[in-house]
Amino acid sequence: MKLPAGPLVLATHNPGKVREIAAMLAPLEVAVVSAAELGLAEPEETEVTFVGNAVLKARAAAEAAGLAALADDSGLEVLALRGAPGVHSARWAGPERDFRAAMERVWSELQGQPDRSARFVCVLALAEPGGAVRTFEGEARGAIVWPPRGEKGFGYDPIFTPTGHERTFGEMSHEEKLPLTHRARAFEKLLAALT
Ligand code: IMP
Repeated sequence: MKLPAGPLVLATHNPGKVREIAAMLAPLEVAVVSAAELGLAEPEETEVTFVGNAVLKARAAAEAAGLAALADDSGLEVLALRGAPGVHSARWAGPERDFRAAMERVWSELQGQPDRSARFVCVLALAEPGGAVRTFEGEARGAIVWPPRGEKGFGYDPIFTPTGHERTFGEMSHEEKLPLTHRARAFEKLLAALT
C-alpha cells in the first residue's frame, strides 16, 4: 500500500497528539499537516466503537482536505465492566478532564468483581479522499490496580499495570512505556503496511 502524493492530514486538533503521531511517522519521511492548521471542523464522535470513530474522523478530514488523512481513537476497556469505559474513556473524566474522578468510577464499578483484566486499545484509520479506508489496531493488555500510582503518564495510566510488569504506566518513564503501548503497536502495523 502506498500513500498518495501530498501531505498527510493528521485528523486531530490536539497539539500533543500531532507531535506524538508525527514522531511515530518519522520513518516514512512523509510531510504532515494537522486538521487544525487546515482549519477543518472537528466531527462529533458519534460511533460506538473505536474503529467507527477513527474511520469517521479520518473520512471527514480526507473529504474536507482532498488529501489522505490519518485519525486515531483510543481508550481503556475493562473486561468485568463489559468493555467500559471504552469509547467513553475521555467522557468519563467530564468537561474538567478530571481523570482522578474517572479512575474512581472504574474502581467503584469494579467492587465485587474479582476479574481485574483490562486493556488499552488504539485504532488508526487511514482514509483516502476517494473513500478507501484501512484500519490498524493495537492493544496493551494488563490489569486495574488500586490505589492509583505514579505521576508520569496521563489519563488512566496510574491504575493500569501492563501484563508482566509490577509498575503502572503512570510510574514508567515515557521511553519505558512507549514500546508497551497500544499506540506503538497500532503504528507498527501501519508502518508495516506502508513500507
Ligand atoms: P481519544 O483522545 O478520543 O482517543 O481519547 C482517549 C482517552 O482514552 C484519553 O482521554 C485517555 O483517557 C484514555 N487513554 C488512551 N490512551 C491512554 C494511555 O496510554 N494511557 C492512559 N489513558 C489513555
